[in-house]
Amino acid sequence: MPAGETSKCLKTFQTCCDQLASHRLERTSFIVALGGGVVGDLAGFAASAYLRGIAFVQAPTTLLAQVDSSVGGKVGVNLPAGKNLVGAFHQPRLVLCDLATLRTLPQREFRAGLGEVIKYGVIYDAALFARLERDLPKLLRRDAGVLAEVIARCCEIKAEVVRQDETDTGLRAILNFGHTIGHAIEAIAGYGKYLHGEAISIGQVAAAKLSVRAAGLPVEEAERIENLLARAGLPVAIKLSSRRQAALIEAMQLDKKVSDGQIRFVLARRLGQVESGHKIAPEWIGEALSAVCRSRTLHESRSR
Ligand SMILES: NC(=O)c1ccc[n+]([C@@H]2O[C@H](COP(=O)([O-])OP(=O)(O)OC[C@H]3O[C@@H](n4cnc5c(N)ncnc54)[C@H](O)[C@@H]3O)[C@@H](O)[C@H]2O)c1
Ligand SMILES: [Zn+2]
Repeated sequence: MPAGETSKCLKTFQTCCDQLASHRLERTSFIVALGGGVVGDLAGFAASAYLRGIAFVQAPTTLLAQVDSSVGGKVGVNLPAGKNLVGAFHQPRLVLCDLATLRTLPQREFRAGLGEVIKYGVIYDAALFARLERDLPKLLRRDAGVLAEVIARCCEIKAEVVRQDETDTGLRAILNFGHTIGHAIEAIAGYGKYLHGEAISIGQVAAAKLSVRAAGLPVEEAERIENLLARAGLPVAIKLSSRRQAALIEAMQLDKKVSDGQIRFVLARRLGQVESGHKIAPEWIGEALSAVCRSRTLHESRSR
């Protein structure tokens, strides 16, 4: 299938199932999803549905897919109405992360994956976070030893969280640290402008600032989060006019994590410890946003 998010759709799903049928796959056959998260989600969904479910193996080839999408059993496709609206929970029999596949991954995609790697340190493991601070140069050089240990630890964390809440009704929400704002940034910037890992990098900086205000995160720890993301080459601020900042808050209202009209956030109490379900007053959200939004300078707005 062609690369890109647009391939993660029902049409490709159908083509894929037609291929399985024409190759006469049986109940005991299995699928190997070799590729990034797009391939993993699509192939996993085909495996969940073909003959009411056959086995599949995740062989993720992007850093994001290795530390995130290949683990946890969420599979599915997008609809024109939104991302991941059709899907299933279908666990892979095996997740095989072959570091050799990462050699060809473009640096921008690699850095975007680091956005999720850093998130695991923030939400679950302060020691991992400290290690990332220390070993970042080696990671950026894709040092195989460091990479293997870090990727394995991320998978372990995700598996531990998912094991306790497979169908996403509670604890699994902590994996969404930085995502409420991140998803809204992806939506208003136009899908494709920011890679997911880049958008959630900005989202994590905003969530860290909100955590200082509303969950008692020490200021120095919020700064460490921002510094590590910046050192990883990820964006930590976004340029938006105040009109588009309002659109951003509106986009957040549309996010899945809104219940009874209130936007809920995952916030950090300390590095490695987060809580989900924080209801946040709109003015505090506005404050955290302005902290990551560089408004246009006077000069720019005049010349427009
Ligand atoms: N199921 C889940 O729990 C879950 C979690 C997070 C994200 N996702 C999904 O994952 C998808 C994003 O995954 P992604 O970031 O891997 O993007 P992707 O699958 O689109 O891959 C990014 C790009 O890298 C290319 N690529 C992949 N491996 C490569 C390699 N080794 N060398 C060179 N190029 C390579 C791809 O062709 C593509 O152009 C989204 O659809 C998202 O919804 C799912
Ligand atoms: Zn994510």
